[in-house]
Amino acid sequence: MTNAPLNPNKALWEKGDFTRIAATMRESGEALVQRIGIARESRVLDLGCGDGTTALPAAKLGANVVGVDIARNLVEAGNRRARELGRANCTFREGDATNLHPLPDDGFDVVVSIFGAMFAPKPFDVAKEMVRVTRPGGRIVMGNWIPNDPTLVAQILRISSAYAPPPPEGFVSPMAWGVESNVIERFGGAGVPAENITFARDTFVFNFGGPPARFVDEFRNYYGPTMNAFEAAEKNGRAADLQKELEELFSRHNTSTHATSIPATFLRVTVAVGQA
Ligand SMILES: C[S@@+](CC[C@H](N)C(=O)[O-])C[C@H]1O[C@@H](n2cnc3c(N)ncnc32)[C@H](O)[C@@H]1O
Repeated sequence: MTNAPLNPNKALWEKGDFTRIAATMRESGEALVQRIGIARESRVLDLGCGDGTTALPAAKLGANVVGVDIARNLVEAGNRRARELGRANCTFREGDATNLHPLPDDGFDVVVSIFGAMFAPKPFDVAKEMVRVTRPGGRIVMGNWIPNDPTLVAQILRISSAYAPPPPEGFVSPMAWGVESNVIERFGGAGVPAENITFARDTFVFNFGGPPARFVDEFRNYYGPTMNAFEAAEKNGRAADLQKELEELFSRHNTSTHATSIPATFLRVTVAVGQA
């Protein structure tokens, strides 16, 4: 029996089953990896990789990919998918973006983190670690949801937080990674000058094979942050209000007539890591 203290960051993402949400993100994951441009034989780290939404498409392009994620169940799911797809060049392992040891310095040509590292605490440590493991001349590509953005995910997180208990003192919102000045400051702390960082607005589309209300249920039953919000709302007798707000949000943004297809805007950050 271990007395290891509970890591709330790990517990949040091991809760439920994020693979249910990731299943609706496959097309956009693949398209994003194509846009980023991943060279054959390049060494790619996918940080906060989940079950491989971007890691497996990068491996399909011929890169040698390591996926690192804090959630054991998602690492297991990633390795299972890699086996099923016959992608021996993609392996998943448990790790924390705030401290990537034993990954070596300069070990990767590209570090990708799509809605991943943004959810780790200690953002300055995370930026330092991403820079440390990227080789001089390599790149870091992050996808970060944007605070107050009107599209899906920022709004799910905004609505959910209104029902959840206030965060502990000193908590830094993951959404702060969606603000350009914060990104510049954090990578600046890791020695990257502002002119090496570029920003673009990009879009991810969530595709679900049922109506919007059923897609809300997937978040309610399987997505850690929304599960926590519903647990808190249930205690206050407000779960029906939360369900209604989310159903309205999902329906309003749905572009499909027969199922659910919802675009969401994010900030794509590209960091050119300098020569030694
Ligand atoms: C919204 S999911 C995105 C997963 C994947 N990138 C995708 O697009 O499907 C966020 C991921 O970040 C991972 N994560 C959160 N905190 C982390 C940390 N400190 N270190 C590594 N991974 C972390 C979670 O376990 C989860 O898999």
